[in-house]
Amino acid sequence: MRSHYCGALSTANIDEVVTLCGWVDRRRDHGGVIFLDLRDRQGIVQVVFDPDTEEHFRRADRVRSEYVLKVTGRVRARGDATVNPAMATGEIEVLGKKLEILNSAETPPFQLDDYTNVGEEVRLQYRYMDLRRQEMQDRLIMRSKITSELRTFLDDEGFLDIETPILTRATPEGARDYLVPSRTHPGQFFALPQSPQLFKQLLMVSGFDRYYQVAKCFRDEDLRADRQPEFTQIDIETAFLDEREIMAITERMIRELFKSVLEVDLPEFPHITYKEAMDRYGSDKPDLRIPLELVSVDDLMQQVDFKVFRGPAEDPAGRVAALKVTGGASISRKEIDGYTKYVSIYGARGLAWIKVNDVAAGVEGLQSPILKFMPDEIVAQMIERLSAADGDIIFFGADRAKVVNEALGALRIKVAEDQGMIAPGWSPLWVVDFPMFEEDGEGSWTPLHHPFTAPSCNADALSANPGEALSRAYDMVLNGCELGGGSIRIHERAMQESVFRILNIDEAEAEEKFGFLLNALQYGAPPHGGLAFGLDRLVMLMTGAHSIRDVIAFPKTQSAACVMTNAPGVVSDQQMKELNIRLRQSRTESEKAQ
Ligand code: AMO
Ligand code: AMP
Repeated sequence: MRSHYCGALSTANIDEVVTLCGWVDRRRDHGGVIFLDLRDRQGIVQVVFDPDTEEHFRRADRVRSEYVLKVTGRVRARGDATVNPAMATGEIEVLGKKLEILNSAETPPFQLDDYTNVGEEVRLQYRYMDLRRQEMQDRLIMRSKITSELRTFLDDEGFLDIETPILTRATPEGARDYLVPSRTHPGQFFALPQSPQLFKQLLMVSGFDRYYQVAKCFRDEDLRADRQPEFTQIDIETAFLDEREIMAITERMIRELFKSVLEVDLPEFPHITYKEAMDRYGSDKPDLRIPLELVSVDDLMQQVDFKVFRGPAEDPAGRVAALKVTGGASISRKEIDGYTKYVSIYGARGLAWIKVNDVAAGVEGLQSPILKFMPDEIVAQMIERLSAADGDIIFFGADRAKVVNEALGALRIKVAEDQGMIAPGWSPLWVVDFPMFEEDGEGSWTPLHHPFTAPSCNADALSANPGEALSRAYDMVLNGCELGGGSIRIHERAMQESVFRILNIDEAEAEEKFGFLLNALQYGAPPHGGLAFGLDRLVMLMTGAHSIRDVIAFPKTQSAACVMTNAPGVVSDQQMKELNIRLRQSRTESEKAQ
């Protein structure tokens, strides 16, 4: 139908007769001349109809916003006075000769160029309209380009694109499963994959060597700006490569992606151990653009009377840490109260602080609610350790190490945002040497990644001291966002069984849930490993969007629903019967209970 995209026209097309198809972005009537801004996925061009083309002029007069048109006309230069530098096609316009209305449109539920006050719920309800906005078009176009570049890279490196099932068994990645009832096996359920983890490992056992997939994953977990119940991974697995080689190849992939799509040369990717990341940034996905660090002061606080600090300082599982904010002494009491409330979300029971007004004056030059609890000499040592200078503020956290890290780690980011301390640019890194397990608070171990991750030690050392064991896992972090993670896997049955034992999965349960994997490991499983990138997060960062919902065509809301299609929805009694399912409460009862 069309000869050109609206947005692709330029002065190079002057005097050409073109046929365009698109939506009416805006219509203006300027004393007998009608201006239509016609829009397609490439952009907008101005089309002018004057009364010479009588029949078509009359039609142009009838069109309204979002009508779908086919227009034929001649491209001409705009006069100097009418050039629009704000518009990519602003140097030209199309003098319309023919206009066909392909379809009319109701008045849009919100103006596409002024949507900012429209609630996200409305945007999602009319997502097909929301997606017409240039910003959304650009993001999805970039998403397509990113996926295409990644595929090309992986194809060129000899990776095979192999699909794995969606109707499957539970694949544990730490979230709840989405379940699908089986009609043919009454009372039994499929689980949707939380990731293709086990299948990609089995493909290595089959000898496919290098696998990738642009894979949909499903996780029923609490949603946030960077989490969706249904999301996409660039999922990768290799055999006969060690962690150094896997990190090198995937790092090169991301580097080349940034170069080709954004023309950005990413800096070096430092390797930071999990322990160092937690100690210095309170997070296993540190944003290295922020020039603030946590500093431990446990040794000093063991010497003070202030119980709030001394308790955690003496407790092996506790931590007392300081966060110095350069130039932060101007932070007001009200703001400090706000930060105290903010850290309480992470379980912190307070937020002590010291403002440094005049270092040379010693303790006299400091201002703080906690100085009275500490000997001057300890305070002096602390100021020295932190290299605190006039105008700084120091915040303190004292609690279990986990609480202190989460609270001060989050505060580090919040303060940096508020004080404009986040440097522009890109800051990638690898986090390595993760612990194998963490305690779940009830004396049991849970895997930090998934239970198929290989430990750095042998099975005896692992069983003797699970809490000390490190894994062969690695995460790629970019600007404080976990972009991807993976590991070398366990490829021997005995080791896999040891890990299951530590996780309190007994033999019968291991056999029932993972028997197929344990068997496969006995039939010549090669050493293997891989990783998965969160495609949505990658696109979010590369497009500068604030939420992954803005880079997914049809995302779910915060409550994991689709307000456009009204999913999830009720199903007929007949369907329920076929599936052998009866609700515990009738629908009206359960609606009432909500
Ligand atoms: P993991 O669970 O770390 O590893 O997931 C890999 C990456 O997927 C992204 N991601 C998500 N993105 C959006 N919404 C979610 N709910 C969500 N959950 C995870 C993140 C994360 O880094 N099978 C392993 C990978 C491996 O070991 O190879 C896995 O799934 O960017
Ligand atoms: P209090 O003696 O409870 O008034 O506390 C004195 C100061 O220590 C206040 O600024 C509190 O916010 C702070 N504080 C109390 N508990 C903690 C904690 N666990 N970690 C850090 N600061 C705390």
